[in-house]
Amino acid sequence: MARQKIALIGGGQIGGVLAQLIAQRQLGDVVLYDIVEDMPQGKTLDIAEASRIDGFDVNVKGTNDYKDIEGADIVIVTAGLPRKPGMSRDDLLTTNAKIIKTVAENVKRFAPNSIVIIISNPLDAMVTLFKKITGFPTNRVFGQAGILDSSRFSTFIAWELGVSVKDVNAMVLGGHGDTMVPIVRYANVNGIPAMELLEKKYGDKIKAEEVMKSMVDRTKMAGGEVVKLLKTGSAFYSPASAAIAMVEAIVGDEHRLLPVCAFLNGEFGVNGYYVGVPAVLGAAGVEKIIEFALNEEEQALLDNSVNAVTKLIADMERLGF
Ligand code: APR
Repeated sequence: MARQKIALIGGGQIGGVLAQLIAQRQLGDVVLYDIVEDMPQGKTLDIAEASRIDGFDVNVKGTNDYKDIEGADIVIVTAGLPRKPGMSRDDLLTTNAKIIKTVAENVKRFAPNSIVIIISNPLDAMVTLFKKITGFPTNRVFGQAGILDSSRFSTFIAWELGVSVKDVNAMVLGGHGDTMVPIVRYANVNGIPAMELLEKKYGDKIKAEEVMKSMVDRTKMAGGEVVKLLKTGSAFYSPASAAIAMVEAIVGDEHRLLPVCAFLNGEFGVNGYYVGVPAVLGAAGVEKIIEFALNEEEQALLDNSVNAVTKLIADMERLGF
């Protein structure tokens, strides 16, 4: 199989880390595009010059010309502004919709057969807009959010229980906003329910529930917590790692079951919107959505999150996108 060509649209904080991770893992040749002159060329030169040390041998090219993404197999979009302290992801809507529109037009023109992973926020709206402009099938246009949100939730559980994060499984569904839905019932440590371990730790069900609630709340606000500390940008290491998990699933045709911002046709009671749900990712992109029974409380939380997404999409449409 020919080496994959992976185009990164947006060469900022996330784009730069993505380029380095893709090179180090030899997942494909990288083209890093940005509108800022020379910056992507500088970053890719810097990354390439580490190839002897890291022992990778792929092409890493920086560009300000969309022509260079021609024929890309995978495109990852991080173009757009990040949040500043005090901003919600939704505050980025107008600015980033304009940027995503241009990006989508160019990806459609130069990489019409690519699988596209969107990271730019507000995520659910940006994926929707990208899909609308390109007309690409929904298996080839989806967003990264849930892998990161789930990793954040897993990290907090691991710290609280004093176990290795490698043994924690926890999934976050819904929109990538403050209404996201960490699924507490299925959070576990190597199969043992996290709630059971918390109850054992505190010897008290109410206290265990309080502790879990604080982890759920921290997960929902975790992006904002990083923004507040960084002051000049938003999280970038972890979003890049999350997207790399998706790239690996696609390049390796792994059929991994991961939380993905995917287009729903009635699954989980949602029709015609992009929402974070478990999906199988492989060489074709999103191969299928995996439904499971939510209890009443979880369904209500998901419905609330979906309402936030539909409202955001309606706002975007009112703005003319
Ligand atoms: N086309 C291509 N790139 C663009 C465009 C455009 N029209 N407009 C801006 N950019 C570039 C910027 O020049 C910048 O280099 O997008 C890059 C964004 O990088 P950062 O500002 O460092 O932001 P980053 O932390 O990478 O986050 C990117 O992902 O998680 C989301 O909320 C985050 O929307 C933000 C996006």
